Amino acid sequence: MNQIASVYIATSLDGFIAREDGDLDWLTAANKSVPEDEDCGFYAFMKTVDALIMGRKTFEKVLSFGKWPYGDKPVIVLSRNKLEIPENLSRIVSWSSESPQELSNRLAKKGAKRLYIDGGITIQRFLSAGLVKDLTITVIPVILGRGRPLFGDVKHDISLRHIVTKAYDFGFVQSTYEVEDNA
Ligand SMILES: NC(=O)c1ccc[n+]([C@@H]2O[C@H](COP(=O)([O-])OP(=O)(O)OC[C@H]3O[C@@H](n4cnc5c(N)ncnc54)[C@H](OP(=O)(O)O)[C@@H]3O)[C@@H](O)[C@H]2O)c1
Repeated sequence: MNQIASVYIATSLDGFIAREDGDLDWLTAANKSVPEDEDCGFYAFMKTVDALIMGRKTFEKVLSFGKWPYGDKPVIVLSRNKLEIPENLSRIVSWSSESPQELSNRLAKKGAKRLYIDGGITIQRFLSAGLVKDLTITVIPVILGRGRPLFGDVKHDISLRHIVTKAYDFGFVQSTYEVEDNA
Protein backbone atom coordinates (compact mmCIF):
# COMPACT_ATOMS: atom_id res chain seq x y z
CA MET A 1 0.00 0.00 0.00
CA ASN A 2 1.45 3.34 -1.02
CA GLN A 3 0.43 5.15 2.15
CA ILE A 4 2.22 6.39 5.25
CA ALA A 5 0.92 7.26 8.67
CA SER A 6 2.78 9.94 10.61
CA VAL A 7 2.83 11.21 14.15
CA TYR A 8 3.56 14.86 14.91
CA ILE A 9 3.18 15.68 18.56
CA ALA A 10 4.52 17.59 21.55
CA THR A 11 5.40 15.87 24.82
CA SER A 12 6.78 16.81 28.20
CA LEU A 13 10.33 15.61 28.86
CA ASP A 14 8.82 12.67 30.75
CA GLY A 15 6.66 11.65 27.81
CA PHE A 16 3.20 13.03 28.56
CA ILE A 17 0.99 14.69 25.96
CA ALA A 18 -1.58 16.08 28.40
CA ARG A 19 -2.27 16.18 32.11
CA GLU A 20 -4.47 13.41 33.52
CA ASP A 21 -7.56 15.57 32.99
CA GLY A 22 -6.48 16.42 29.43
CA ASP A 23 -5.25 19.90 30.29
CA LEU A 24 -2.64 21.42 27.99
CA ASP A 25 -1.86 24.45 30.16
CA TRP A 26 1.84 23.47 30.28
CA LEU A 27 1.99 23.47 26.47
CA THR A 28 0.14 26.76 26.20
CA ALA A 29 2.56 28.29 28.73
CA ALA A 30 5.60 26.94 26.86
CA ASN A 31 4.26 28.23 23.53
CA LYS A 32 4.43 31.77 24.93
CA SER A 33 8.22 31.59 24.52
CA VAL A 34 7.92 30.69 20.84
CA PRO A 35 8.38 33.56 18.35
CA GLU A 36 5.22 34.38 16.40
CA ASP A 37 6.74 33.40 13.07
CA GLU A 38 7.90 29.96 14.34
CA ASP A 39 5.61 26.93 14.05
CA CYS A 40 8.26 24.20 14.47
CA GLY A 41 7.54 22.81 11.02
CA PHE A 42 3.81 22.27 11.53
CA TYR A 43 2.64 24.13 8.42
CA ALA A 44 5.15 22.31 6.19
CA PHE A 45 4.10 18.98 7.71
CA MET A 46 0.38 19.73 7.29
CA LYS A 47 0.91 20.52 3.61
CA THR A 48 1.97 16.87 3.10
CA VAL A 49 -1.03 15.42 4.97
CA ASP A 50 -4.10 14.14 3.13
CA ALA A 51 -6.23 13.22 6.15
CA LEU A 52 -6.11 13.37 9.94
CA ILE A 53 -7.13 10.57 12.25
CA MET A 54 -7.61 11.46 15.88
CA GLY A 55 -9.11 9.94 18.99
CA ARG A 56 -12.37 11.25 20.40
CA LYS A 57 -10.57 12.83 23.37
CA THR A 58 -8.26 14.84 21.15
CA PHE A 59 -11.22 15.91 19.00
CA GLU A 60 -13.09 17.18 22.04
CA LYS A 61 -10.03 19.14 23.17
CA VAL A 62 -9.59 20.69 19.73
CA LEU A 63 -13.28 21.67 19.69
CA SER A 64 -12.78 23.43 23.02
CA PHE A 65 -10.20 25.75 21.39
CA GLY A 66 -13.06 27.40 19.51
CA LYS A 67 -10.97 27.84 16.35
CA TRP A 68 -10.66 24.85 13.97
CA PRO A 69 -6.92 24.48 13.20
CA TYR A 70 -6.93 22.04 10.26
CA GLY A 71 -8.56 24.02 7.47
CA ASP A 72 -10.59 21.81 5.15
CA LYS A 73 -8.47 18.65 5.50
CA PRO A 74 -10.60 15.58 6.11
CA VAL A 75 -10.58 14.54 9.78
CA ILE A 76 -11.74 11.13 10.96
CA VAL A 77 -12.50 10.84 14.67
CA LEU A 78 -12.26 7.41 16.27
CA SER A 79 -14.74 6.47 18.94
CA ARG A 80 -16.49 3.24 19.90
CA ASN A 81 -19.75 5.18 20.02
CA LYS A 82 -21.35 7.22 17.27
CA LEU A 83 -20.29 10.85 17.55
CA GLU A 84 -22.31 13.98 17.06
CA ILE A 85 -20.30 16.20 14.71
CA PRO A 86 -21.02 19.95 14.97
CA GLU A 87 -22.98 21.14 11.93
CA ASN A 88 -20.26 23.61 10.82
CA LEU A 89 -17.73 20.74 10.60
CA SER A 90 -19.98 18.08 9.11
CA ARG A 91 -18.44 18.31 5.61
CA ILE A 92 -14.87 17.73 6.81
CA VAL A 93 -15.15 15.71 10.03
CA SER A 94 -16.50 12.17 10.16
CA TRP A 95 -16.80 9.50 12.81
CA SER A 96 -15.41 5.97 12.55
CA SER A 97 -15.14 2.92 14.76
CA GLU A 98 -13.05 1.02 12.22
CA SER A 99 -9.81 -0.65 13.25
CA PRO A 100 -6.60 1.19 12.29
CA GLN A 101 -6.04 -1.30 9.46
CA GLU A 102 -9.60 -1.06 8.11
CA LEU A 103 -9.53 2.72 8.22
CA SER A 104 -6.10 2.97 6.57
CA ASN A 105 -7.20 0.61 3.80
CA ARG A 106 -10.39 2.56 3.17
CA LEU A 107 -8.54 5.89 3.04
CA ALA A 108 -5.83 4.42 0.79
CA LYS A 109 -8.54 3.38 -1.69
CA LYS A 110 -9.75 6.99 -1.65
CA GLY A 111 -6.21 8.15 -2.51
CA ALA A 112 -4.97 9.36 0.92
CA LYS A 113 -1.20 8.98 0.81
CA ARG A 114 -0.21 10.50 4.14
CA LEU A 115 -2.24 10.21 7.32
CA TYR A 116 -1.63 12.29 10.44
CA ILE A 117 -2.39 10.23 13.53
CA ASP A 118 -3.15 12.19 16.70
CA GLY A 119 -4.01 11.42 20.33
CA GLY A 120 -2.06 9.16 22.67
CA ILE A 121 -4.31 6.11 22.68
CA THR A 122 -4.90 6.46 18.96
CA ILE A 123 -1.17 6.69 18.22
CA GLN A 124 -0.59 3.62 20.39
CA ARG A 125 -3.26 1.69 18.45
CA PHE A 126 -1.74 2.61 15.08
CA LEU A 127 1.77 1.80 16.33
CA SER A 128 0.63 -1.60 17.59
CA ALA A 129 -0.96 -2.30 14.23
CA GLY A 130 2.40 -1.60 12.56
CA LEU A 131 0.98 1.31 10.58
CA VAL A 132 3.05 4.27 11.80
CA LYS A 133 5.91 5.12 9.43
CA ASP A 134 7.41 8.19 11.08
CA LEU A 135 7.21 10.19 14.28
CA THR A 136 8.14 13.82 14.87
CA ILE A 137 8.20 14.49 18.58
CA THR A 138 8.74 17.94 20.01
CA VAL A 139 9.96 17.70 23.58
CA ILE A 140 8.92 20.61 25.76
CA PRO A 141 11.31 21.41 28.64
CA VAL A 142 8.98 20.50 31.48
CA ILE A 143 8.51 17.45 33.70
CA LEU A 144 4.87 16.79 34.56
CA GLY A 145 5.29 13.68 36.70
CA ARG A 146 1.94 12.30 35.62
CA GLY A 147 -0.46 12.63 32.74
CA ARG A 148 -1.63 10.95 29.54
CA PRO A 149 1.31 9.14 28.00
CA LEU A 150 2.33 9.25 24.37
CA PHE A 151 3.46 5.63 24.44
CA GLY A 152 2.10 2.54 26.14
CA ASP A 153 2.60 -1.18 26.18
CA VAL A 154 3.93 -2.78 22.99
CA LYS A 155 3.88 -6.46 22.02
CA HIS A 156 7.48 -6.31 20.82
CA ASP A 157 10.22 -3.72 20.48
CA ILE A 158 9.64 -1.16 17.78
CA SER A 159 13.01 -0.21 16.31
CA LEU A 160 13.39 3.32 15.05
CA ARG A 161 15.84 5.09 12.78
CA HIS A 162 16.78 8.58 13.90
CA ILE A 163 16.39 11.05 11.04
CA VAL A 164 17.04 14.49 12.50
CA THR A 165 16.99 16.50 15.72
CA LYS A 166 16.57 20.23 15.92
CA ALA A 167 17.13 22.20 19.13
CA TYR A 168 15.31 25.52 19.18
CA ASP A 169 16.69 28.55 21.04
CA PHE A 170 13.53 28.65 23.15
CA GLY A 171 14.21 25.17 24.52
CA PHE A 172 12.05 22.85 22.43
CA VAL A 173 13.87 19.82 21.00
CA GLN A 174 12.28 18.20 17.98
CA SER A 175 13.32 14.76 16.75
CA THR A 176 12.08 12.78 13.79
CA TYR A 177 12.27 9.00 13.63
CA GLU A 178 11.27 6.44 11.05
CA VAL A 179 9.93 3.08 12.11
CA GLU A 180 12.18 0.30 10.83
CA ASP A 181 10.33 -1.85 8.28
CA ASN A 182 10.87 -5.16 10.02
CA ALA A 183 10.34 -3.96 13.61
N1 LIG B 1 0.70 17.37 23.27
C1 LIG B 1 0.15 17.30 22.08
O1 LIG B 1 0.75 17.70 21.05
C2 LIG B 1 -1.18 16.65 21.95
C3 LIG B 1 -1.63 16.19 20.70
C4 LIG B 1 -2.84 15.53 20.61
C5 LIG B 1 -3.61 15.36 21.75
N2 LIG B 1 -3.18 15.85 22.93
C6 LIG B 1 -3.98 15.68 24.14
O2 LIG B 1 -4.06 14.32 24.47
C7 LIG B 1 -5.33 14.05 25.06
C8 LIG B 1 -6.02 12.96 24.25
O3 LIG B 1 -5.22 11.82 24.12
P1 LIG B 1 -5.71 10.43 24.70
O4 LIG B 1 -4.57 9.46 24.64
O5 LIG B 1 -6.34 10.67 26.01
O6 LIG B 1 -6.88 9.98 23.73
P2 LIG B 1 -7.20 9.96 22.14
O7 LIG B 1 -6.30 9.02 21.43
O8 LIG B 1 -7.29 11.34 21.63
O9 LIG B 1 -8.69 9.39 22.18
C9 LIG B 1 -8.97 8.19 22.85
C10 LIG B 1 -10.31 7.68 22.38
O10 LIG B 1 -10.15 6.91 21.20
C11 LIG B 1 -11.29 6.06 21.10
N3 LIG B 1 -10.92 4.66 20.91
C12 LIG B 1 -10.12 3.91 21.70
N4 LIG B 1 -10.15 2.62 21.27
C13 LIG B 1 -11.00 2.58 20.22
C14 LIG B 1 -11.46 1.54 19.37
N5 LIG B 1 -11.08 0.26 19.54
N6 LIG B 1 -12.29 1.86 18.36
C15 LIG B 1 -12.72 3.13 18.19
N7 LIG B 1 -12.34 4.17 18.99
C16 LIG B 1 -11.47 3.88 19.99
C17 LIG B 1 -12.02 6.12 22.43
O11 LIG B 1 -13.15 6.98 22.27
P3 LIG B 1 -14.54 6.57 23.04
O12 LIG B 1 -14.19 6.61 24.49
O13 LIG B 1 -15.50 7.63 22.60
O14 LIG B 1 -14.89 5.19 22.55
C18 LIG B 1 -10.99 6.74 23.33
O15 LIG B 1 -11.55 7.40 24.46
C19 LIG B 1 -6.11 15.34 25.00
O16 LIG B 1 -6.01 16.01 26.24
C20 LIG B 1 -5.40 16.13 23.93
O17 LIG B 1 -5.53 17.52 24.10
C21 LIG B 1 -1.98 16.48 23.06
